Amino acid sequence: MQTLPAPPWTRRRLLRSLGATVVVAGTGALGYRVYDTAALRPGSGDAYDPWQHWRDEPGLLGAVGAAVLAASPHNTQPWMFGVRADGVDVFVDAERGTGTVDPYRREQHIGIGCAIENLVLACRARGLEPTVTLLPDSSRLARVDVRSGRPTSDVLHDAIGDHIQRHRDGLTLGGQGFGATKLALAKLLPASSRADGDQFWLKQTRTVHTATATAYGVITTGTPDDRATQLDAGRLLERIHLTATSRGIALHHMNQITERIDRERSTGATATFAPRFAALLPPGQQPLLTFRVGYPVRHAAPSPRRATTEVLR
Ligand SMILES: Cc1cc2nc3c(=O)[nH]c(=O)nc-3n(C[C@H](O)[C@H](O)[C@H](O)COP(=O)(O)O)c2cc1C
Repeated sequence: MQTLPAPPWTRRRLLRSLGATVVVAGTGALGYRVYDTAALRPGSGDAYDPWQHWRDEPGLLGAVGAAVLAASPHNTQPWMFGVRADGVDVFVDAERGTGTVDPYRREQHIGIGCAIENLVLACRARGLEPTVTLLPDSSRLARVDVRSGRPTSDVLHDAIGDHIQRHRDGLTLGGQGFGATKLALAKLLPASSRADGDQFWLKQTRTVHTATATAYGVITTGTPDDRATQLDAGRLLERIHLTATSRGIALHHMNQITERIDRERSTGATATFAPRFAALLPPGQQPLLTFRVGYPVRHAAPSPRRATTEVLR
């Protein structure tokens, strides 16, 4: 076992130096943190149960169980569902936003579009033929009415629970695609400072994300502020996700540029990102979402989800 450098330790420093280092430790405090972060059994516990049972429950409640597995910005899961006898209403949980990162709630509504698409696929798999009406009134983002039909199998539906290869990044450490040892040790260490975290991501973006991207995708529109367009874009995004997953391709969102565009606009700062991105796109088109795709080099662990019972109203 190598001797570790002097504390204070941070996750970032550990990850940088980990290469040949193995740590064995077992104090009471450390033991608690192992329990607290489920470091030794990543991806286990109640918060991960929705990934286990999403196919089991029939009917509309079961379809909501598939909807909650959708992608959402920073895993905020900004959705609520109202289950009726003949359909499901979809609402935004306005408390679940990312603040200044998403000042116009563009990403929030795209995330809800992702959940709507999972809901639609899961209804069809359960023999419920859905009709989607976006923005039926001022309180609902979508009204999904169902009539009985024949269950249809669909590779996109099958891909919903296949979190493996879904993302190579995410906001939990488990979603970072680290190896098992590095993941367990990263969880044991104190969180790094914000400045360190920023530097880490900047470096990752330069040396890993952009350096290894096989291709980029951008969902564009002429009406980026239109809510129905955002919900539709989310539905499209989820289908792209599931298609990629079903073909063994990893997809990683990279929305820093659109977030900077919104930030500059909301603060009245000079637009520096918008014109440079626009120059890469067809005339009249604006970016809603950006991602990279490629073949994954390792599996990603699932990220936590709220249970169906927590998202019903
Ligand atoms: C609209 C939207 C924007 C997102 N932006 C980013 C991003 O910029 N970077 C990133 O790593 N993940 C991004 N994500 C992915 C989420 O972080 C991810 O869906 C969430 O953490 C849950 O993880 P999972 O989808 O792997 O289960 C985004 C997701 C959505 C729906």
